[in-house]
Amino acid sequence: MKAVAKAHTNIALIKYWGKRDEQLFLPMNNNLSITLDKFYTTTAVQFHEHLQEDHFILNGEYVDGDETAKITRFLDKIRSRAGKSLFAEVKSENQVPTAAGFASSASGFAALAAAATKAIGLDVDDRTLSQIARQGSGSACRSIYGGYVEWQKGEQSDGSDSYAKPILGEKDWDVSILSVMLVSKKKKVLSREGMKRTVETSPFYSGWLETVETDFLDAKEAISKRDFEALGSILEANALKMHATTLGANPPFMYWQSATIEVMELVQELRLAGIQAYFTIDAGPNVKVVCQPKDEQAVYEALKELSVVQDVLVCHPGPGISYLPSTAL
Ligand code: ADP
Ligand code: DP6
Repeated sequence: MKAVAKAHTNIALIKYWGKRDEQLFLPMNNNLSITLDKFYTTTAVQFHEHLQEDHFILNGEYVDGDETAKITRFLDKIRSRAGKSLFAEVKSENQVPTAAGFASSASGFAALAAAATKAIGLDVDDRTLSQIARQGSGSACRSIYGGYVEWQKGEQSDGSDSYAKPILGEKDWDVSILSVMLVSKKKKVLSREGMKRTVETSPFYSGWLETVETDFLDAKEAISKRDFEALGSILEANALKMHATTLGANPPFMYWQSATIEVMELVQELRLAGIQAYFTIDAGPNVKVVCQPKDEQAVYEALKELSVVQDVLVCHPGPGISYLPSTAL
């Protein structure tokens, strides 16, 4: 009863920001992402007769406390679906910084969902897998698929119509996503807590909800037309709008640091110089810059010149989940 799965992270172009149901991870708004080729998680799950609890080993180290409790709560859902009660050893390797705004939770829970369902003997299709992954971390439901992916929020209170769907395959439209590492420390406000506080207290959250569906539909149209400029301006504005809601929260918080703003300014300067580049930022200080492959080198070089930039990793649209031999991890 062992299985190994690999899932790539994704970067939201239209953000998932706010839940209407915290237990089922149901989002307030439709959202949309690109799965990335360079960042991923590989996870092995093995159910054992002799274990008294779940064990979680992340990047070679045993993890205790809240992090393992999160894994157990997630595995409980899979155990109850399979009608089994065995505990598991979960071994996971993140090829992505953990909890630094690079979406380790997305690849982490997508890989865990795939490996655990297979190891326990459940035969699930991708849509069901997306619904299961969603209940570990919302954004994980998008990492089941490669390329451009939408997560339809759904209307049902049981979450049966809330899952991700592919829009365009990873080979159908190449764009460059430059992941700019400024700091790789864990953030202070995790996305889960940040979005909850914002929904509950920020007077700007209603503005987010009033406009995000238009952003989502415009982004989908830009993708279907391969209109890079239209997509770029929508994704940058949508990210700014999401971050603006955090400033109105009580207590207020922000994910940006001074280095974040330096990168944002550089991207806007590049545009003035005629290079189509746009930024987006998730729940952390690091920035992702989206541009066309023809401009990738120029954007890379400009970013590398900033002293606040530690590293830049150039990504392209990447694949959905895959299964590896059980000896792989
Ligand atoms: P990030 O920006 O990295 O996604 P989040 O705050 O959204 O940061 O999520 C970080 C959380 O994701 C971790 O605290 C942990 O619970 C979970 N996580 C990260 N990596 C894994 C993994 N490989 N397997 C399971 N869960 C993971
Ligand atoms: C800003 O999926 O990490 O990256 O569902 O509580 O686990 P939980 O949150 P998570 O939040 C992602 C927030 C975001 C935007 C996005 O990825 O769409």
